[in-house]
Amino acid sequence: MEDDEKQSIVLFPFMGQGHIIPFLALALQIEQLNTNYAIYFVNTPLNLKKLRASLPSSSSIRFLEIPFSSSSYGLPPASENSDTLPYHLILRLFQASASLQFKSSFKEAIQALTARCHGRPPLCIISDIFLGWTANVAKQLGVYHAIFSGAGGFGLACYVSLWLNLPHRKVVAHHFSLPDFKEGTVKLHKTQLPTNIAEADGEDGWSIFQRENLSAWVDSQSLLFNTVEEFDQIGLSYFRRKFPGLRVRPIGPLVLGLKSRDRIGNTRGVITRETILKWLDSKPSSSVLYVSFGSMNTISSSQMMQLGKALEGSQKNFIWVVRPPMEVDINAEFKGEEWLPEGFEERNRATGRGLVVQNWAPQVEILSHRAVSAFLSHCGWNSVIESLGNGVPVMGWPLAAEQFFNAKYLEEEMGVCVEVGRGKKSEVKSEDIVKKIEEVMGEKKEMMRRTARKVKETMEKAWKQREGFNGSSAKSFHDFLSDAKQHREMKDMILFSNIAN
Ligand SMILES: *[C@@H]1O[C@H](CO)[C@@H](O)[C@H](O)[C@H]1NC(C)=O
Ligand SMILES: *[C@@H]1O[C@H](CO)[C@@H](O)[C@H](O)[C@H]1NC(C)=O
Repeated sequence: MEDDEKQSIVLFPFMGQGHIIPFLALALQIEQLNTNYAIYFVNTPLNLKKLRASLPSSSSIRFLEIPFSSSSYGLPPASENSDTLPYHLILRLFQASASLQFKSSFKEAIQALTARCHGRPPLCIISDIFLGWTANVAKQLGVYHAIFSGAGGFGLACYVSLWLNLPHRKVVAHHFSLPDFKEGTVKLHKTQLPTNIAEADGEDGWSIFQRENLSAWVDSQSLLFNTVEEFDQIGLSYFRRKFPGLRVRPIGPLVLGLKSRDRIGNTRGVITRETILKWLDSKPSSSVLYVSFGSMNTISSSQMMQLGKALEGSQKNFIWVVRPPMEVDINAEFKGEEWLPEGFEERNRATGRGLVVQNWAPQVEILSHRAVSAFLSHCGWNSVIESLGNGVPVMGWPLAAEQFFNAKYLEEEMGVCVEVGRGKKSEVKSEDIVKKIEEVMGEKKEMMRRTARKVKETMEKAWKQREGFNGSSAKSFHDFLSDAKQHREMKDMILFSNIAN
């Protein structure tokens, strides 16, 4: 079948690696399930350029470019991705993404695609949680629309509840309950708030953006999650109550295959993928702590010192992906000798106990290696899914966004996490971190690993399709597609009867 005869599915992630990665995983999953769809990835030029290079050569995913000029939004030239921006400019990127709705370029791109497909509109548009306005465009064009969340159900539920209600503004106590959950069941501490929510007063730029854009979801028809029904009930039922017009469908786990994930990262420095894997091969099973705070976040320089001391103090094997500390420009040159305890890298290389990797590591490959015991993580949802998908328990150190609530859920509801740190400003002491490492890699190790393995099995089952059995996510995804098809048929029928009349 030629592309222009296939039904097309349009995917539009927010402009940040943490968003693009799960969308790409979704695209590849659709492609693998059924080659009868033409998949179109929408984004700005620089993001698409990077993406093209990271796709497997066998992929038939197409790209729809929408123009973007960062300088007209007060952003540095060539800035189209939140990963390359300092914190104070992130809001501007969000506002810039929202103003794309007024330039009609997205709408025009869909209309042009429709024209190329002999007047047949896409089967559906799947867009990001932060691009709620696309739901309205889809509605105007009569196209089925879904929001796809790369975040988990519970984490996103807390995040949405906070932005829509700002409950922490109404209490003096440090603890407070979240509205729209079963009365008093979800309690947070003020230290569990990301900076922009902690500082929100309802009239600031973030509050306005989130209130208006999250509310725009009501024009959509479906809410897809990179999670699994079986272990994310509290969060998913929050959305089923709060947005009764949207079909809530968990379709995870969606993880990028090893190769694509590797190509999307930027390895710098002298330690290559091969060095890392060889080093892991030389270690006993379940003996290594893997430490990484993701592609977008980093800790403060004093926290980095304490963590360094703790890793040495614990005497465990470790791989640590180090990015510049908060105080330093994120695109700065790597200066391990300044950021880490004196002689840290050389000493640990000499003893063979630890590897310091600059900026980025092949995370999926590391987590799936038998030598890895636990993952000290910022609890971004991609990392969580990759860790649990390999049965690896988590040491949580949330830094931003919904990561705080992910860590809470993993620890309190799932039993696969121990929190070691909280936020970029909190004071952490190396002795306390050592104690937690000893807990997770010592007395609690077997119990946590057993629980994590059960989660892994649940995740594996979710996408299983066998004679007489479909896993929950496979079923959810097929239901989603049939909703979209029904919607298309209905629209075609109306169109047909209008012509006939
Ligand atoms: C989203 O937020 C931006 C910036 O605050 C605003 O201009 C825009 O109108 C909002 N979008 C919707 C759909 O409300
Ligand atoms: C599983 O899903 C496939 C694809 O939609 C469907 O054809 C099949 O009938 C389903 N099987 C069961 C047992 O639900």
